[in-house]
Amino acid sequence: MKKILLIGSANMDLSMNMLRVPEPGETLIDDGGIAYTPGGKGANSAVAFAKLGADCVFCTKLGKDAHGQKLFNYYKECGINTSHIKVDAEAPTGLALVMKEADGSNRIVVYPGANTTLSNENIIEAFACNPDAVYLGFEIPFATAVAAAKIASAKNIPIFIDAAPASKEYPLESLPYLEVFSPNETETFEYTGIMPRGTESCLKAAHSLFTRLKAKYIVIKLGSRGAFVYDGKHYDLVAAYKPDAVVDTTAAGDTFTAGMTLEYLRSGNIKSAMRYGAAAAAIAVSRKGAGASVPTEAEVFDFIKRKGN
Ligand code: ATP
Ligand code: RIB
Repeated sequence: MKKILLIGSANMDLSMNMLRVPEPGETLIDDGGIAYTPGGKGANSAVAFAKLGADCVFCTKLGKDAHGQKLFNYYKECGINTSHIKVDAEAPTGLALVMKEADGSNRIVVYPGANTTLSNENIIEAFACNPDAVYLGFEIPFATAVAAAKIASAKNIPIFIDAAPASKEYPLESLPYLEVFSPNETETFEYTGIMPRGTESCLKAAHSLFTRLKAKYIVIKLGSRGAFVYDGKHYDLVAAYKPDAVVDTTAAGDTFTAGMTLEYLRSGNIKSAMRYGAAAAAIAVSRKGAGASVPTEAEVFDFIKRKGN
């Protein structure tokens, strides 16, 4: 079983369903429903790794509050290794306001809370688990993510980055050699100024990223259009699966990148790994919630059998 050290964020999501988001200055009343559900880009990927059959050691920071306690219990139920989850005495657990419109799309604002207190000391301790791979996201301080990447690099541990959320201010140059760097469309635009629409713009954006960071593969997630992969010489577009329904796209990207990473570690083949991630994500978009929408390994297997490779 592959052991993955995931260093990333944990949030409680407050999801609100609405026909549409309000215009500036407008108040809307919409009884579409609300729910508090486990979220956070790091945590959603940790849940995905555990459900898809990895030994996932999750290094994160929660607040000393009811949300933190609920999330901790949930991670245990999901089979995540919680021995490197820390609790901050002062900052509250991260909270994300997820505004979900009728077509299943979402807009998210994150109050990072305890995620901002994840320290270098916390991550150094976590490396004691001797992982096969390290998986990082940017909902924690960027400097902490860079420190984690540098420790992994010194130990020859492959590094996978789900490059969300993005900021053009991030010094991507300071990252060591990565196995995979994976932003979505809007993150790619933020990093490069190029919106990846067709093959040509995807290639331009990937080229631009290669001028700023060293990686074996850049994988650009393109929603229902699939994902684009570039290794500096060759590129390909790997199609998405047609989901049974589009109910809630929250955590599609987190599920895709985790599924792709795990399958890549198993097979060494990036394209089949992306297709596996796409199958896991297509199931996730057909269900409500973030972490709760992630499928198990058996569900992905059945889905691929039903829909074909
Ligand atoms: P999110 O922020 O919602 O978690 P993201 O923007 O990071 O997601 P996307 O590019 O939307 O990531 O999606 C990642 C992958 O999930 C896609 O490459 C695709 O395989 C799958 N996916 C997302 N949305 C759909 C959809 N509507 N239909 C089929 N597959 C989808
Ligand atoms: O990618 C989806 C996640 O982004 C949500 O669960 C929310 O917590 C934000 O971090």
